[in-house]
Amino acid sequence: MIEKSNQKNINTAEILGRILFPGEEIQRKVKELGNKITLDYESKELLIVCILRGAVIFLTDLIRHIDLPLSIDFMSISSYGFNTPDSGLVKITKDLDENIEGRHVLIVEDIIDTGLTLSYLIRNLKAREPESIEICTLIDRAVRRITNLKIKYCAFNIEEKYVVGYGLDYKQKYRNLESIYELRTDRVKRDIESLKFSLNK
Ligand code: IMP
Ligand code: MG
Repeated sequence: MIEKSNQKNINTAEILGRILFPGEEIQRKVKELGNKITLDYESKELLIVCILRGAVIFLTDLIRHIDLPLSIDFMSISSYGFNTPDSGLVKITKDLDENIEGRHVLIVEDIIDTGLTLSYLIRNLKAREPESIEICTLIDRAVRRITNLKIKYCAFNIEEKYVVGYGLDYKQKYRNLESIYELRTDRVKRDIESLKFSLNK
């Protein structure tokens, strides 16, 4: 694993701020969540729906701590920041391959911010009549929430900070960092909303 001490090529733009959650802490939390999910879904089969692309790293670690028969599927969504004319618009750019009717669905997401993306998704997936549907997110940034969402599993909570690493990107980069870093917004000179906008396109 490439950690801060031996990173030579990743942070050349120097936009990485301090480490918010070190790799070891993430691994501990992910294991805890996996154990909890294993207990909660005992004697059931799970269909884990991973939201591309940010949640991929989290998914691959998480499922190795879930001791249940499970399948994985992927969905890709594009959304538009809520200061834009397309406010709240969400589009499915890659749908599931699996039929979810009558199944226990667990959505795995990287970060929930306004909640617009997930509330649209939940509405869409509920119409397909799964037996149950729950959310597991790596990070919850509840301060900016503008929708009502019930989050069953969450590894970390943050406030206003924009974060990268462990799957989370800035302009599609930095996903391969083992830890989660604060982004130095003074360096990128753009506000959080426009960052999010460029990210989700
Ligand atoms: P929401 O619809 O406002 O909840 O947006 C959630 C999505 O915005 C996430 O799935 C990410 O793609 C993106 N996002 C929000 N905040 C961050 C961040 O701090 N780092 C990286 N991506 C983020
Ligand atoms: Mg995302």
